[in-house]
Formats: sequence, C-alpha cells, structure tokens
Amino acid sequence: MAAKPISRPSAARAKARVARTGRKDAASRPAPGKGAAAWSGRFAEPVSERVKRYTASVGFDKRLAAHDIRGSIAHARMLRAAGIVSASDLRAIERGFALIVREIGSGRFIWSQDAEDVHMNIEQRLTALVGDAGKRLHTARSRNDQIATDVRLWLRDEIDTIAGLLIGLQAALIEAAERHAAIIMPGFTHLQVAQPVTFGHHLLAYFEMFERDRARLAGCRTRVNVLPLGAAALAGTTFPIDRERVARELGFASVARNSLDAVSDRDFAIEFCAFGALFMVHLSRLCEELILWMNPRLDFISLPDRFCTGSSIMPQKRNPDVPELARGKCARVVGHLMGLLTLMKSQPLAYNKDNQEDKEPLFDTVDTLKDTLAVFAELVPCITPNPDAMRRAASEGHATATDLADYLVKKGLPFRDAHEAVARAVRFAEGEGRDLSALTTAELRRYSGRIGRDVHRTLTLEGSVAARNHIGGTAPVQVRAAIRRARKVLRGR
Ligand code: ARG
Repeated sequence: MAAKPISRPSAARAKARVARTGRKDAASRPAPGKGAAAWSGRFAEPVSERVKRYTASVGFDKRLAAHDIRGSIAHARMLRAAGIVSASDLRAIERGFALIVREIGSGRFIWSQDAEDVHMNIEQRLTALVGDAGKRLHTARSRNDQIATDVRLWLRDEIDTIAGLLIGLQAALIEAAERHAAIIMPGFTHLQVAQPVTFGHHLLAYFEMFERDRARLAGCRTRVNVLPLGAAALAGTTFPIDRERVARELGFASVARNSLDAVSDRDFAIEFCAFGALFMVHLSRLCEELILWMNPRLDFISLPDRFCTGSSIMPQKRNPDVPELARGKCARVVGHLMGLLTLMKSQPLAYNKDNQEDKEPLFDTVDTLKDTLAVFAELVPCITPNPDAMRRAASEGHATATDLADYLVKKGLPFRDAHEAVARAVRFAEGEGRDLSALTTAELRRYSGRIGRDVHRTLTLEGSVAARNHIGGTAPVQVRAAIRRARKVLRGR
C-alpha cells in the first residue's frame, strides 16, 4: 500500500509516537468518559491544560445553549422519522433535554472547559442523563453544521428583537417630528448657516436613514434564515436524512444548497455586522448633533438630567454622556465588522477553527445594538428644543439669502445675476452688523430695481420654509405629510 506523501504509514506513525512519548497508546489515554474529549480515541495523550483553555469556547458559546438544544431536538426527530434512531431513543433524548433546559434555566447546569464547547457540554450531560440514546444524537451530524445552525437560529431571533427596537426608535422620531414640525432652526452645510429648516424635517432625516437600515436588516434576515444542518462535517452524510423536515421544524425558509459552503461561510454574520456598523454610523451623526446642539453657545436643545452626567472636578459641568458614548460605541461595532471580514479573508474551504472567533464580535455587536437602541428610544422623546435660540441663530446668518435670489429670478433676473446682486447686499448688511432680512426695501433696491415691498415676505424665516413646499421639502405641511407616510411605512410597507 502506497502511503500518501504527507502521512507516514500508521504502524510507523504509532512507533514514532511511542518513541516520542515513551508510552503506548491505550495505557496513556484517559479512560473514555470522564475527562476525555469526544475525539480523544485518536490521541496518544490528553491535551495540555493550556491548550484546553486556549481552544475552549464554552465560556462564551454557552450563550447559544437554548438554540443548540432546539436544533438538536429537531435533528433527533428527523433521525427518528428517517428510521435512523428508535422511538425510545427519541423519547429518552427529549426527556433528557427537558431536564437540561431546566438545569440551565435554574443555573444548576455545570459548564466544563474539559468539554470544550456548548455542543459537547450539552451532549455529555445528555448522555449522563439518558445513556446510549444521548450518544446516538450526533449521528449524521458534525459540530461544523451544528454550530452554523445554532448561530443562524440565535441570530434570527436577535434580528427580530433588533428590528422591533429599531421600529421603536423610528416611532419616537416620528412623534418628536410631529411635535416640532414647525419649529425653525438654521440648516447647516459645512457647519455654517445655510438655509432655515424645520426641526421636524431635520429629525425625519434620521427616520429615513434608519428606515434604510431596517430594510438592510430584513434583507440580511432572509440570508440568515437558511439551514446548514445536514452538511455534516463538510461533504454531507451517508445517512438518509430529511433536511427539509428539519428546516420546517426550525422555521428556516430553505436548506443550504452546498455542504462545503454551509459549514464554512460566515457571510451572514458579516452582513449583520455591516448593518450594525452602518446603523451606528447613522446614529453617531445624530449623537454628534445632539452634542453640538447642547453646547451652551448654540443651546438649541436640552436633555433631562437622567441622560447627562456631571464632572468630579468641575461643579458647573453637565455632559451629554449618552450621545458621546454611543458615538464611541460606533467604533467598536465598526471594529467588529472589520474583525469578521478579516477572519473570513483567505480561509480555504471548508470549516476552519478560525470561525470560532466569530462569536464574541457577533455577540458584542448584538448587545451593543440592543442597548443603544433601547437607550435612544427613551432619549429621543426627551429632546426639548429651545425655539428661541434656534430662531436667533437662523436669523443671524443671512439664512434667507437664497430666497432673495429666487425672488429676483421670479422677477425675471437670470439666476447668476441674482446671486451676484444678493451677495453684494449681504456684504452691505454684514458691514452694518445687521441680517439681510433686516434691511429696508430702499436699502435692498440699491442692489436691484426689481425689488418691491413684497420682498419682506420672502425674507422671513416662516416664508422661507413654507416656500419649500414639495415632496422632500422642509415646509411644515410637507413635514406633516412625511409623518403620515412614515407612520404607514412603519405599520408595514
Ligand atoms: N466551537 C466551534 C466553533 O465555534 C464549534 C465547531 C467545532 N468544530 C470542530 N471541528 N472543531 O466553530
């Protein structure tokens, strides 16, 4: 028999091993059962304590226990239906799992690093409780398709929770926009006063960003909702399994079409983190604005004390910690996305242990999103605008200059000429230390003879916002129309 170039014939290998360790196989191996890993039959010595600690994932993947058990029960029922295990085995397995669920729920379940991960901890306990039936559970399955199934099941539930929280935040934005539909503030470009906008319109900009995020999350869910189980280690299994049945029982919309892909790709987790990163980036923009608006120089809004904190040294301080922290947490979610992309990069097919590293970033992304969404759904209704300060700021930066140019265009002046005339009027107003809107008709007429007394309506803040009366414009009537549309969208497209 010709040995493959990379592996020595097994007799020679065993001899070399005895020479290396000075021990014969069976004698040096821990007795099967207690303390021995499920795969220990092939090994000459137990794994070192340090390696055990290094490779164990139970410390974090025990979080998947409930979904692991759900997947296992569906698998066991399929094994029974396919005649692969007996009815009494299935009864024993279901009875064992009922006990384990109770043990985990009450905190009595003992998680052991010796059993490496959530799957083997639960399987070992099952076997301890029900004997051989527990040992039959892993027929036609591998931890590779098992973990891929667990993560998808778990993430699908978390996505549904997060989608609900996101709707809550969007609803809070709609309510706030309705309350503040007609409040006027300066709209900025380059952080310089540009044109007046309504606060309701400004808030609804975030509704739109979050609505696109929600659509991205829904798209991600359809790709999460695919069953990997049945792929086994990588190539499928020799048993007559019924994957469609397992998919139905677990609520998966379809079955993964390629076993190698099913056990190895984590693109669904990457995609979820991409959703999360983009959502946090959007939220960080709102956070940045809240922080700016709370600066006493602007004083556009206030937040109740319960969202702020003081300083241990400066008695006068009242800091917008919640928006600052959320802005900071955006960094960790973006970091998790980068981590998962890098984890997947260049991985050869099929499963590699690298993928164990997908859990903690994914878990932390989910936790960060849920916490952040809940806090902001509570915070947004508490944003109290200061209409006087907003108005003052809007009436100080010649914010209606574009309105005057548009006025001149409507009187027949080409836009470029109108722009030039208004620019000169602004320069004059600046020199006078007055706002453009405060100039008299006579003063304004120096820059264009087409200006009449009706100009003052266009130069007011109310006139300016009301004139932008089309879909997507800032006019209060449009804000109210947008609110009606947004409510419909939230009720279910
Ligand atoms: N703890 C592993 C993970 O998270 C489970 C799959 C282990 N498979 C294996 N062949 N070692 O990916």
